[in-house]
Amino acid sequence: MINVKENINNVKEFNYLYDSVGWGHYDEKISKKAMENTLYSVSIYDDNNIIGYGRIIGDAICFLYIHDVMVIPKYQSKKIGTIIMNKLLEQIEEIRKENPNLKVYLGASKNREGFYEKFGFVNRTDANLGHGMILKNK
Ligand SMILES: CC(C)(COP(=O)(O)OP(=O)(O)OC[C@H]1O[C@@H](n2cnc3c(N)ncnc32)[C@H](O)[C@@H]1OP(=O)(O)O)[C@@H](O)C(=O)NCCC(=O)NCCS
Repeated sequence: MINVKENINNVKEFNYLYDSVGWGHYDEKISKKAMENTLYSVSIYDDNNIIGYGRIIGDAICFLYIHDVMVIPKYQSKKIGTIIMNKLLEQIEEIRKENPNLKVYLGASKNREGFYEKFGFVNRTDANLGHGMILKNK
């Protein structure tokens, strides 16, 4: 049975998901800190097995960033990503009540843009803004 849960049980599940989608996981200490500093997250379980996750980071009022939306390959294309996004967007709408000018960002992986477009995200240039930028790793 599919269960939707706020937060995530532990670092191992988070790292397992990272490995499953081919991103390679962080050191446990880093993942733990990332989770502790997350504003809101949602996990999806099939019975007790983690199969998906997504989180929101940011200042909780002006700028939010959706990150780490991931569904393990066996469960992809079964609307699990949709459940994750809808839960994150519900939370975002709660914050928007406090600040209608809230800005919500995400950085789509290559070829994942179409997924996020389903939920109302557009390229920054289509919103009359500059490109998103990222500091290059040294
Ligand atoms: C991207 C991801 C989260 C989507 O989750 P999912 O459970 O497979 O997606 P869903 O089944 O909920 O799909 C919802 C809709 O998005 C569409 N969609 C899914 N992936 C897509 C893609 N890469 N490009 C375009 N559309 C996509 C589906 O066709 C579906 O459309 P429909 O509602 O018209 O039928 C999942 O494939 C994944 O975890 N991929 C690996 C990790 C990753 O790249 N995450 C994104 C990081 S930015």
